[in-house]
Amino acid sequence: MTLVDQFQRRISYLRLSVTDRCDLRCAYCMPERQTFLPRKDVLSLEELHKLALGFIARGITKLRLTGGEPLVRRDMIELVQAIGRKLGDGLDELTLTTNGTRLAEFADPLFAAGMRRVNVSLDTLDRQGFARLARRDSLPQVLEGIAAAQAAGLKVKLNTVALKGTNENEIPALIEWAHARGLELTLIEVMPLGEVEEDRFDQHLSLGEVRAALEQRWTLTPSEHRTGGPARYFDVAETGGRIGLITPLTNNFCEGCNRVRVTATGQLYPCLGGGERVDLRAALRSEDPDAALVEALDVAMKIKPLRHNFRIDAHGQAPALPRHMSMTGG
Ligand code: GTP
Ligand code: 5AD
Ligand code: SF4
Repeated sequence: MTLVDQFQRRISYLRLSVTDRCDLRCAYCMPERQTFLPRKDVLSLEELHKLALGFIARGITKLRLTGGEPLVRRDMIELVQAIGRKLGDGLDELTLTTNGTRLAEFADPLFAAGMRRVNVSLDTLDRQGFARLARRDSLPQVLEGIAAAQAAGLKVKLNTVALKGTNENEIPALIEWAHARGLELTLIEVMPLGEVEEDRFDQHLSLGEVRAALEQRWTLTPSEHRTGGPARYFDVAETGGRIGLITPLTNNFCEGCNRVRVTATGQLYPCLGGGERVDLRAALRSEDPDAALVEALDVAMKIKPLRHNFRIDAHGQAPALPRHMSMTGG
């Protein structure tokens, strides 16, 4: 009954997107004029809950809610409460990736529903730089959200997309800031998902190079620490903290992949970086949803590709997939 793909990889991590909407417009993620899905196409609270239960019955032990921005969805806390009832009963971890703008409001109810850890996107600590990159002046709310999450007892990991010419010189300062507050920080290579105004190739920064630059300053030791996600971790002796590196373009990590993602419209993408999808919404809305869901997940295991096809081609281009990150949830 567990989910094992054609390459014998055990799938235990579900990334479930609950909305494609977001209150920010990070330049590497979305165009300024993004059109959002009609609400009727998005799965209802009941459908998302049923889907989560179906996955947990098939051996998913880690479930991360994503978006867009998951906390803009109105019934989000109800969903976390509903899925949270499976913690300790099949589910080991229920977590969230958020931009942080609404965390100050929701940190306490998230913790009360059983959440213990959240990942918060933070690409810069400079208010003007943030307003330029996210195209909204929301840094104060995000910082307030991070502090509130810590005060609520949530473990916070920061996600920083490393961007050439944007935050590249700020990376050591971001790490120091995070470690001084007991936060982990993961650096991410920008992936070509969906067309945006900027050229992803111009933005691309190899984390191998970033790591080499950090090693001029600090002692980095590879860590055994694992979260079930794609990051590889390093302990930083001088700061006493830990950093993660997510390197889809320069150091492929697909061999050990343990995850699938589902969009807010119930489309299962076996891989973030391309390939076919499976329509779980049709299964959920069919006459025998339980059987249809089992069958759909079996199909997904047969078509999950060995690896993504993000690449920088011979012309120095990073061809974009048609989907935006806000659709797929990462
Ligand atoms: P942890 O549980 O803390 O390990 O979280 P995570 O890294 O799995 O989740 P998060 O939502 O914080 O994602 C961080 C980055 O990793 C995002 O840019 C995701 O798009 C990216 N990511 C997550 N899973 C995959 C994957 O399977 N393939 C690729 N290429 N990127 C991924
Ligand atoms: N490439 C890499 N990371 C991205 N994110 C959003 N778009 C991209 C992209 N094109 C990051 C966000 C968030 C996480 C879910 O993915 O900053 O931290
Ligand atoms: Fe797995 Fe695909 Fe992600 Fe690679 S890109 S780690 S194969 S989901």
